[in-house]
Amino acid sequence: MDTITLLQPDDWHAHLRDGEALRRTVPDLAKQFHRAICMPNLVPPVKTVEEAIAYRQRILAHVPNGIDFDPRMVLYFTDHTPAEEVVKIKQSDAVNAIKLYPAGATTNSENGVSDIRKVYPVIEQLEEHQVPLLLHGEVTHSHVDIFDREKRYLDEVLVPLLRQFPQLKIVLEHITTADAANFVLEQGRNVAATITPQHLLFNRNHMLVGGIKPHFYCLPILKRQTHQTTLLEVATSGNPKFFLGTDSAPHAQSKKEQACGCAGCYSAPNAIELYAQAFEQMGKLDKLEGFASHFGADFYGLARNTKTITLVRQSIQVPAQLDYLDNDPIIPLYAGQTLNWSLQ
Ligand code: DOR
Ligand code: ZN
Repeated sequence: MDTITLLQPDDWHAHLRDGEALRRTVPDLAKQFHRAICMPNLVPPVKTVEEAIAYRQRILAHVPNGIDFDPRMVLYFTDHTPAEEVVKIKQSDAVNAIKLYPAGATTNSENGVSDIRKVYPVIEQLEEHQVPLLLHGEVTHSHVDIFDREKRYLDEVLVPLLRQFPQLKIVLEHITTADAANFVLEQGRNVAATITPQHLLFNRNHMLVGGIKPHFYCLPILKRQTHQTTLLEVATSGNPKFFLGTDSAPHAQSKKEQACGCAGCYSAPNAIELYAQAFEQMGKLDKLEGFASHFGADFYGLARNTKTITLVRQSIQVPAQLDYLDNDPIIPLYAGQTLNWSLQ
């Protein structure tokens, strides 16, 4: 097998940033994916349908000629999101979901939700209108160890949330633990998860053994190998509850390589090839299309794509760095390493 043709994939979790960054991020993503969920953690965050539509226009202005890219927008949930905004999402053809960052959990999450119980009236509307709630699933209490924050979120936040709102559509974003994978497996069809390429290809040893590698630092943080193995198993199982979401999160090299480096891996330039690498390691390339091109669209209630892409078995080396901001390049995930498959 030397080529694989897939229905064009979608990225259900991407950070494109704004302004100058879009010159890099939009073409990198749009050369592979037809749609992407564009995360709203800008400064200031994208809080209303109106702001999301304006952001979408700024993204579209950077789509290269001849490429058909359809940014799917998401609002940033705050303590002050009005319940009426949910109906506006439902009526909008540009916005598909709302993202909840626990305040303080990650990059630009300061305006996130301080206590989920405070926003239950809005969540009630999400359940009623079947608007997906996208969750950064980590607790933020300073006394909880960073490696335990996802597991604690399942127990302390998700279990009570689903008890109160059993029909709520939830995407548990970028899951990193066997606990989260098993949790999703135990729920109904209304609960799904995205999985990133870094959490399939790497574990915390890659980040920490033999010297600290800041380009592997993302949130939720890479976990131990047993968790990586479970993520690989569920991603390649053909179960439609698990689908592609890169969490590609660009930060310039100078912001990653410093005493207090930012969280995020920039996987966009070779995202589909990175996933192909992981699926091939599992001997499950036949399961890539469902994960990358079917299950996310089905969960969001959107039509599957109609065009295709082809991957060829031809090694490519990921560039050591790429132009990003003025005089401040970016280091992509897998920089300098070789991928077995490349996009035709
Ligand atoms: O590593 C991450 N980077 N995790 C997140 O949750 C946010 C993201 C970012 O926006 O940089
Ligand atoms: Zn993210």
